[in-house]
Amino acid sequence: MSPKSLAVFRCTDCGADHAKWAGRCDNCGEWNTLVEEVGAKAARPKTGDRRPKPGVSAATQKLHEVKGSESPRWTTGLAEFDFALGGGIVPGSMVLIGGEPGIGKSTLLLQIAARLQQSGRRVMYASGEESPLQVRLRADRLEESASDVELLAETNLETVIGTAAATRPDVLIVDSIQTLYTNDLEGAPGNVGQVRECAARLMRFAKESGTTVFVVGHVTKGGGIAGPKTLEHIVDTVLYFEGESSLDHRILRATKNRFGSVDEIGVFRMTERGLEAVSNPSELFLGDRNAGASGSAVTALMEGTRPVLIEVQALAAKAGFGTPQRVAAGFDSRRMSLLLAVLEKRAGLRFGDLDVFLNVVGGVRMQEPAGDLAVAAALASSVYDKATPADAVFVGELGLGGEIRPVSQVERRVAEATNLGMKRVFISERSVPKRSPANIVGVKSVSDLFSKLF
Ligand code: TYD
Ligand code: MG
Repeated sequence: MSPKSLAVFRCTDCGADHAKWAGRCDNCGEWNTLVEEVGAKAARPKTGDRRPKPGVSAATQKLHEVKGSESPRWTTGLAEFDFALGGGIVPGSMVLIGGEPGIGKSTLLLQIAARLQQSGRRVMYASGEESPLQVRLRADRLEESASDVELLAETNLETVIGTAAATRPDVLIVDSIQTLYTNDLEGAPGNVGQVRECAARLMRFAKESGTTVFVVGHVTKGGGIAGPKTLEHIVDTVLYFEGESSLDHRILRATKNRFGSVDEIGVFRMTERGLEAVSNPSELFLGDRNAGASGSAVTALMEGTRPVLIEVQALAAKAGFGTPQRVAAGFDSRRMSLLLAVLEKRAGLRFGDLDVFLNVVGGVRMQEPAGDLAVAAALASSVYDKATPADAVFVGELGLGGEIRPVSQVERRVAEATNLGMKRVFISERSVPKRSPANIVGVKSVSDLFSKLF
């Protein structure tokens, strides 16, 4: 029997096996849940399988009898990268680097490869996306020299693992998991079945050989794509690389880490000589801000499960003839009218003869009411022509009565602001925790906020 005939389509909901793909599982009736997997026979390695046969008991051991200690981590010297990993690379671990195409994953990993190689580790870079020449040209642009990194242009999983098993590098980089395929499945590279099976085998290879494996996984905006999401539970560590590709800064964020905390972020700047670690991120975020200029305020919004600091700008200027203009970019214009009305009524601001422009910086669309407080602060700042403090963040929803309402996940937003060096976070008085960090300022209403600010 050829190995291909052992592939089955398994329902991700109920686990039923099907010989053929179908749109609907005829066992549980769910739609679009069938994923190609390697059948039970093919999945078992032919030799060296020391797993006990079913029904035979194996020796257990008490936890305190387990031998060994945590092996020392390898540092790359790219401080922000080591930091995001929780203090360096854990030998024998598997790390997924996810991110949108073009964000800089290949660049980052090539730099890591170069640095590891310089500290005496052997690195194999398996590229399925780019030709050796393309990788070489990229390497030539970098600050670091990657000249001794072993390059393999290959998309077949068996060949990649076979080559790595034969040459035994310390680190194997796979760019990307979506281009890899195994002979045991018939699906095209990049489909869920292929991606999962390839990742599971790379994980097994990492554990058996002690090789550290980095895999690149592409995610599209919104993160909904099947690829990396289905991998998260397979790998040890998940790092997401994000940022507007039109802007220079990039954030590397751990969303899962078996060897460290997930609150750490690493901040980089993309230069023409590769990525550069930014040791004081708040400077970067506020760098483009015209500190001291009125009409600007920073808020912390949740993007999925991740908090992001975003600047809001407002400009209130004397209107010419006719009806004053109300223009909002990245913000719902009806919500802006509502906030303007609240500010007039509850804080005594006058917008009647002013044109009002609102802009959420960086092309972001603000869909959360948590940004209200920053919008209010930016508007008032423009009207009073007084700047908000450069190191302040505003998080809260504005009620029609002018009251500041609590929002979800305040701790994470505050933590993000603190991480990025912000000294004051204005939030609803009602969501101030009992033992609150020193940088939290609770506010009751818009007029309370304005009296504290201006
Ligand atoms: P890349 O690493 O190819 O992204 P990914 O692997 O995530 O798809 O990075 C691509 C972008 O980075 C590309 O638009 C060019 C830019 N870049 C620089 O600005 N400076 C550099 O030194 C390098 C190598 C790339
Ligand atoms: Mg790439």
